[in-house]
Amino acid sequence: MAAKKPRSSSRAKRATDAVAMLKADHRQVEGWFAQFSKSRSDSKKQALAAQICAALTVHTALEEEIFYPAFLAATADKDLHHEAIVEHDGAKKLIAQIGATTPADEYFDAKVTVLSEMIKHHVKEEEQRGGMFSEAKKSKMDLEALGEQMLTRKRALQTGRQAA
Ligand SMILES: [Fe+2]
Repeated sequence: MAAKKPRSSSRAKRATDAVAMLKADHRQVEGWFAQFSKSRSDSKKQALAAQICAALTVHTALEEEIFYPAFLAATADKDLHHEAIVEHDGAKKLIAQIGATTPADEYFDAKVTVLSEMIKHHVKEEEQRGGMFSEAKKSKMDLEALGEQMLTRKRALQTGRQAA
């Protein structure tokens, strides 16, 4: 249960807390996966799949470039870190496959569903007690500074994607 934060300045702080940012990303793609599973429209499914893959690509980049190295440096927890990296590799392969297919492909839905299951597992590993996020909070990591750094990188990645 989250304790109530003091009112003043907590909003601005939480906006750039690295763990809060990554969790917000998780909630966003979960919502899109839920919409995908309910949708019957191919064009809607294609748009959702593209949205999901783009968001996950940015999310995994932020974790791999900024959050995970900082976590490893602060905690020396190779088990948690390496497992997360291997899970990302699996997700990235599937994201590439989804990007190369359309809902006309017989396996399109299955690929998106399997990706959602992989992400669900990955999210649980990160967010559960003893997982990377709770260990990060216990560590000396500067989550605000990391969040700041991640926000800057996120904007650059999103702009780059739009320009591409
Ligand atoms: Fe994540």
